[in-house]
Amino acid sequence: MQLHVADHPLIRHKVTVLRDKRTPSPTFRLLVDELVTLLAYEATRHVRVTECDVETPLTSTTGTKIADPAPLIVPILRAGLGMLDGMTRLIPSAEVGFLGLKRDEETLEAITYANRLPDDLTGRQVFLIDPMLATGGSLVAAIEYALERGATDVTCVCLLAAPEGIEHVRVSLGDRADVKVVVAQVDERLNEMGYIVPGLGDAGDRLYGIVDL
Ligand code: PRP
Ligand code: URA
Repeated sequence: MQLHVADHPLIRHKVTVLRDKRTPSPTFRLLVDELVTLLAYEATRHVRVTECDVETPLTSTTGTKIADPAPLIVPILRAGLGMLDGMTRLIPSAEVGFLGLKRDEETLEAITYANRLPDDLTGRQVFLIDPMLATGGSLVAAIEYALERGATDVTCVCLLAAPEGIEHVRVSLGDRADVKVVVAQVDERLNEMGYIVPGLGDAGDRLYGIVDL
């Protein structure tokens, strides 16, 4: 696993506003969208491209276009949905798969409630997006779904990560796959409830409101 931590003052500034408990949902959603755009610059550094011809008003020249098969972007529901528009804006030709994972807040295990991934991901670049990498259980489950469908090129884009979660992903993958994880910031630790500290709270709730009664 390769870890890339973004180190940019704009990213640090925007993450600070995200962390603030007074930041309302509309601002939170806007910031998540802006942050994914900044992170995507690094995450897509090795997106597959191919040469193409282009006619400028002056001449013809050789350009670059995203190669086939198109990359697959997979938001991990719910909170990953907040990052989807930013990613598809940058790679409009990408296709989108969906994974619905819900962390059981007692056991902290990821439970799958939706899976709309293509059966065959051979040769596809896969971008998994989820703002929070806490214990790492959800991200490992999502990576496993991609690997078992034949993906060999998986990049995960997260906003905040706990050191424990990063280690869990690293140990779970071993040398089975060279997965890249791009994060805005690595926080101090997990608390006893499995929340990232200092963190930003429950990303899904802050984006979309509380659904569990
Ligand atoms: C959050 C988050 C990740 C997961 C991280 O989702 O968006 O998917 O928790 O925790 P982990 O690393 O310990 O698995 P949650 O399960 O709360 O669902 P939600 O997005 O619907 O709120
Ligand atoms: N999921 C979240 O949304 N936040 C955390 O801190 C941990 C898991």
